[in-house]
Parts: sequence; structure tokens; C-alpha cells
Amino acid sequence: MALVNQFQRFSRSILGIASSYSKRTRNGTLPFLQATRRTLTTEPLSEKQEVNITFVRASGEKIKAKGKVGDTILDIVVNNEIDLDGYGACEGTLTCSTCHLIFPKEVYDALPDKPTDEELDMLDLAYELTDTSRLGCQIVMTKELDGVEVRVPATINDARA
Ligand code: FES
Repeated sequence: MALVNQFQRFSRSILGIASSYSKRTRNGTLPFLQATRRTLTTEPLSEKQEVNITFVRASGEKIKAKGKVGDTILDIVVNNEIDLDGYGACEGTLTCSTCHLIFPKEVYDALPDKPTDEELDMLDLAYELTDTSRLGCQIVMTKELDGVEVRVPATINDARA
């Protein structure tokens, strides 16, 4: 039975990757070109601008962290070893919804990338969904997002379980 469960999880993970791949090709952009666009800047990677983000737990506790422009919020959580229980369980493959975060309305409205259908589908499975919810693995930090405060829901739903 455990083997069957492991196989089902593996299959969902593969489907998530395939879904992300097809999403990008539907946008008319080849995946490798999109990845190149994200990483090419006029600055060397090591000199990318530092950005700050604050995670606000449901208890009101604030956790400050630093990242770089071009990092996803999931990257920042991982790189700073922030203890957010279960956060980022699928490692950004859009199959879990554990990276659910709630943005201030003005920040949400100004985010450069609107949620894809795949992100919206996964958000539908998140607990405590709001009108300004996004998945942290899909949000790439920009200079404009420096200093942002995001709310971490009290409960998470690992959609793979
Ligand atoms: S880390 Fe799983 S959907 Fe974002």
C-alpha cells in the first residue's frame, strides 16, 4: 500500500512538471528562453540587488528574510531556512499549494505576473483562500517588491496528500 501511495505521489509530481511545461509553451514562449530571460541581467548574478521580505504568521509573529531580485519567495524561504511548517512541499512544481501566501491588496494588484490557470487551480485547494492569495513558488522578487510583508495562513493544505 505504501508503495502504491509513493507511486501516486510520484505520478502527481510528474504531471505537475508536465503541466508547468505546457503552460509555458501555450504562452508562446519556449521554456528554455523563458528561463534565460529570468537569469539574464546586466549585473553578474552575485551582484543582484538584495531584497527584503517579511512573513507574518497568523500569530502576528514577523519573520524577516533577505533574498535577491529574481529569487522566488520559495527560494527565499529555502535559502533562509525559514521554519514555515510544510511550506513548499512540492518544491515549486505547482502540485501542493503549501506555499500559499496572502498579499496586501495594493501589492497583489501590482504584481507583474498574473496567476496562470494552473496556479489558480492549485489556489482553489488552499485553505484560507482570499482575493489576494498567491503561491509563493510563482512569485519572483523584483526591486518593487523590496520590503513587502506577506501573511502566512494558519493552516496549509498539501494537495498531494
Ligand atoms: S511549492 Fe507546491 S505549489 Fe508552490
